[in-house]
Amino acid sequence: MKTISKLLFVTMLYVSLTTTVVAHDTDKQIYKKVDDLMKKMTLQEKIGQLQQLTGRNSEITGPSGEKINTEESIRRGLCGSLLGVKKAEDVARYQNIALNESRLGIPLLFGYDIIHGCRIIFPENLGISSSWDITAIEKTAQIAAREAASMGIAWTFSPMCDISTDPRWGRVSEGSGEDPYLGAKIAEAMVHGYQGKDLSDPNTILACVKHFAAYGAPQAGRDYHTVDMSRRMFRDRYLPPYRAAINAGAATVMTSFNDFEGVPATGNKWLMRDLLRDELGFTGFIVTDWGSTDEMCAHGVAANGKEAAKLAFDAYVNMNMVDADYIKYGEELVHEKQVSEKTIDLLCREVLAMKFRLGLFDNPHRYGGDRYKSETYRPENLEVAREAARKSMVLLENNGILPLKGSEHIALIGPYAANRKEMSGAWRGLVEHHRTTTFLEGLQTRFGKDNITYVEGCKPFKAIEGGIAEAVAAAKKSDVVLLTMGLPNSCSGEAASLTSIEVPQVQRDLLTALDSIGKPIVVLLVTGRPMDVGFEVKHADALLVTWHAGTMAGPALADVVSGDFNPAGRLTMTFPLELGQVPIHYNMKRTGRPMLSPDSKAKYFSRYIFTPNEPRYPFGYGLSYTTFDYSDLKVLTPEVAMGESVHVSVKVRNSGKRDGAEVVQLYLRDDIASTTRPVRELKGFERVELRAGEERTVEFEITPEDMSFWTINEEFAQEPGTFHLWAGHDSNATLEGVFTVKR
Ligand code: GLC
Repeated sequence: MKTISKLLFVTMLYVSLTTTVVAHDTDKQIYKKVDDLMKKMTLQEKIGQLQQLTGRNSEITGPSGEKINTEESIRRGLCGSLLGVKKAEDVARYQNIALNESRLGIPLLFGYDIIHGCRIIFPENLGISSSWDITAIEKTAQIAAREAASMGIAWTFSPMCDISTDPRWGRVSEGSGEDPYLGAKIAEAMVHGYQGKDLSDPNTILACVKHFAAYGAPQAGRDYHTVDMSRRMFRDRYLPPYRAAINAGAATVMTSFNDFEGVPATGNKWLMRDLLRDELGFTGFIVTDWGSTDEMCAHGVAANGKEAAKLAFDAYVNMNMVDADYIKYGEELVHEKQVSEKTIDLLCREVLAMKFRLGLFDNPHRYGGDRYKSETYRPENLEVAREAARKSMVLLENNGILPLKGSEHIALIGPYAANRKEMSGAWRGLVEHHRTTTFLEGLQTRFGKDNITYVEGCKPFKAIEGGIAEAVAAAKKSDVVLLTMGLPNSCSGEAASLTSIEVPQVQRDLLTALDSIGKPIVVLLVTGRPMDVGFEVKHADALLVTWHAGTMAGPALADVVSGDFNPAGRLTMTFPLELGQVPIHYNMKRTGRPMLSPDSKAKYFSRYIFTPNEPRYPFGYGLSYTTFDYSDLKVLTPEVAMGESVHVSVKVRNSGKRDGAEVVQLYLRDDIASTTRPVRELKGFERVELRAGEERTVEFEITPEDMSFWTINEEFAQEPGTFHLWAGHDSNATLEGVFTVKR
């Protein structure tokens, strides 16, 4: 054998051996290491691993509780995790305290709310869900994980899996809308994006399924309010995204603030033990939400922090976020035999096992260091953000004014036109606003600075002296007005509930004034929630929902309004005709007196006296610069046995003059079932790119699981009978098919 090939052989042999030797520990090996470590730990130190605290300069995302000396707690082994630490340097400093100044040197786990990006901010989640592009969504989570990991963060409190049908609730901006099927697909994709295939990879981080559970259904859309629903409704409509994320291998789950069946989630044994661990088989660890253990006192189910801690321990909630009830009362509860040390061991074991899986014991500084200098704001990732933002935008009205020809002089007006910060939405703790490209900058780059006149016109909630007059003057000298309207970041996310979903009046006054001069107006709606846009559509020639589009908002907007990109966003949450219809969503139940047709005048039916039942824009709706026609829906298997899938095909043609993407949607109705079923439910979708004139046959498989629901027999099962299905452009699709499942 020649020397070179011998050298190659030896090298390959070495690599394979060392690779094998450093191959990842199996869970068995991990738990062996955990158990060996726990044998050295005191009860106090085991409870310490179950306590999460904030660091100095941490982002504070909840009411401030009692002051705890974090560094001292770390030294005493009374803290296992920190959240909200914003700098890699601070992560390293705290980690060194844990490693060098605590008795056992157990590394800390650093968590952060990386909700829709880390440094690079992608569109807010409700926005990016409107892309219906699962691959793109997973990619954004993967990039967010890499950026976060480079800043020392090994755990994100995401994906938020809360289904919601109430736009009064500010946190709809963090979720994936009203539909369980789409929400489940997105939750699964985000877990895969964050966690990848190997948690010990220093570019992957722990995901966290939140907020468990049903937090998205607070009464009256008021954040933290009571949630009260049947278990059947919960299982059919709210559980699927949580379950999908857990089945995707999510490492952690976060308890929600709300009560469920009268018991706060954080102390709810049915939710946390019977359902989450026993039925869904969740094996990771559970963290409370911010102070939600101690808040069980405010809920009125615990007289004090000690009782609250017991409730959380008994629910097998591993880690306590921010309030100190675990480290204050844990030992006492064990000594009084109110909580067994076995429970503490069980809870601590999972937390330590996760730290081993992350490789924190091999190298406690594997996350962070100075990697962020090369890892954040990478040009290729900014392009991903640009693509995600333009795919998220939803065109709701257009009389042909869009796409712009490119020769027009544009008057860009409104409070969000040149605003960097307001492009980020909620949960933007690590963004560097100066890296965000504004709408103005994006449009100037695309159309030339000389073709754009910018006027702010007003602030989001208040007038600017002379602002309207200046805006009108600019509009008069333009060929088209692009008017940014909507809500600022502060109206998105947590503690941001509203009793009106209309655009603030001061902005409408600006629109009215502009409309009076007769120039075409395109409203650009900046929002993190569905809004009542009845006034806007009366005065505008086009309405484009941009959402809070993130770091690349400007280039993405320019791509869409110029026609360089044909908008393909589809609503994932219903836009009501008016707030009085809320909660309104496409997958409602039929009732015993369903309206026979939208224009029926019959009295004794489920309806309003003066208002239609139909929303302004339904789930799945969105326009394109081209048109799509559907034909030839075929149920390829019109009769199947229980346990068999049904196969369906439909033809979709791009019947317009522009290439474009269409989200082909498939809806199903179980005609007769043992419990009432929705009028229709999304059970398939495919985003297809079609050249002008191109026709494509799209096939769907409807599995027995897709047909299953929580039956009268209290089980998730399929039932025989006939099913109707529809395929088309949105949840009002009319192309119909039927099949039968034989007993
Ligand atoms: C907040 C939020 C939760 C977040 C946590 C940590 O109160 O409810 O979504 O992950 O606290 O910031």
